[in-house]
Amino acid sequence: MPVLSLPSETRPLLRVLKGDRLDTPPVWLMRQAGRYLPEYRALRAEKGGFLDLATDPESAAEITLQPIRRFGFDGAILFSDILMVPWALGQDLTFGVGEGPHLEPALADHALDALTRVPGRLEPVYETVRTVAAALPAETTFLGFAGSPWTVATYMVAGHGSRDQSETRRFAYRAPADFAHIIDTIAELTIEYLSRQIQSGVMAVQLFDSWAGSLSPAQFERWVIAPNARIVAALHERHPETPVIGFPKGAGGKLVAYARGTGVDVIGLDETVDPEWANSVLPDGFPVQGNLDPLTLIAGGTELRTAVDRVVGAFAGRPHIFNLGHGILPDTPIAHVEQVLAHIRKREATTLA
Ligand code: CP3
Repeated sequence: MPVLSLPSETRPLLRVLKGDRLDTPPVWLMRQAGRYLPEYRALRAEKGGFLDLATDPESAAEITLQPIRRFGFDGAILFSDILMVPWALGQDLTFGVGEGPHLEPALADHALDALTRVPGRLEPVYETVRTVAAALPAETTFLGFAGSPWTVATYMVAGHGSRDQSETRRFAYRAPADFAHIIDTIAELTIEYLSRQIQSGVMAVQLFDSWAGSLSPAQFERWVIAPNARIVAALHERHPETPVIGFPKGAGGKLVAYARGTGVDVIGLDETVDPEWANSVLPDGFPVQGNLDPLTLIAGGTELRTAVDRVVGAFAGRPHIFNLGHGILPDTPIAHVEQVLAHIRKREATTLA
């Protein structure tokens, strides 16, 4: 259940994460630090590859702050990647241009225990957190994150992303003990990683489970709910004041089981979830985040305004954080982001007319 908020809490996003309902929902966007911003593309071109940016605390802090300066979002999300954990577990990580990430050796044919761990690879991330925490406006909430064990495992096993995660699902059926060892190892490092992010200055954390939607109910219970429950329990024990957001993309009808079973304080909803349905099945007062289709943000105009109003209207009776159902896409017009913010904050009620 949401942690009770202290009356002294003034950051709107943190208040909602802790269970307060606000008339104007706070706003941030998943993947808000990245390629749709010209200032990100300029810094990337100057400094080199993604990993060069993510391991340079000064650049990573700058990229974290770029969308805050430009839009005044209520939340800043740490600029890093869910694949930093496999990298620290000893896989090589490369981001080929236009190809997505590659991890080597792939665990489909290489034992996890044969990898040499390099925990020091995460140290620059904590330095980034300290740098951002010192520079953030007083009203902005700072969010840390990690991938959930299942989603991270899909990259570690296959060595790359895939549409249906078939290789990893096959592995989990074929060698459940080996797969459990991979999941447990990721979970253990994730607890440590998020705990250090919190100690370094983030105020809430999000677990990204981007591929939660590909599992059968029994596998979902085993590889999504159980390891996330373990992470959430450990974080609550160590940091009882720090809310944990769970984002089980594609969970659909398994959302309520996820919310109850994992113990997350806030649930992120993807764009395929009917907001009225989610509002009717989730416990009263349970904070929700997300749900706007990232493609409506590209479309703009009436489609966008109608979609924004539908999400905001559906969750008007509970703590709600406005966000997308998945990450913002690189070809999103910046003007549409500005219009959505103005519309929600009612500075200009007609902006999207
Ligand atoms: O949200 C933010 O702005 C903070 C930074 C962030 C990144 N990745 C930066 C990034 C976050 C929260 C992530 C999460 C992430 N990374 C997920 C979960 C969320 C999701 O979108 O499903 C996943 C599955 C990854 C793995 C990953 N990293 C992929 C598949 C790719 C390549 C394609 C893509 O989506 O960009 C990355 C690279 C990456 N991570 C970039 C950024 C800004 C692009 C790097 C570049 O080319 O400049």
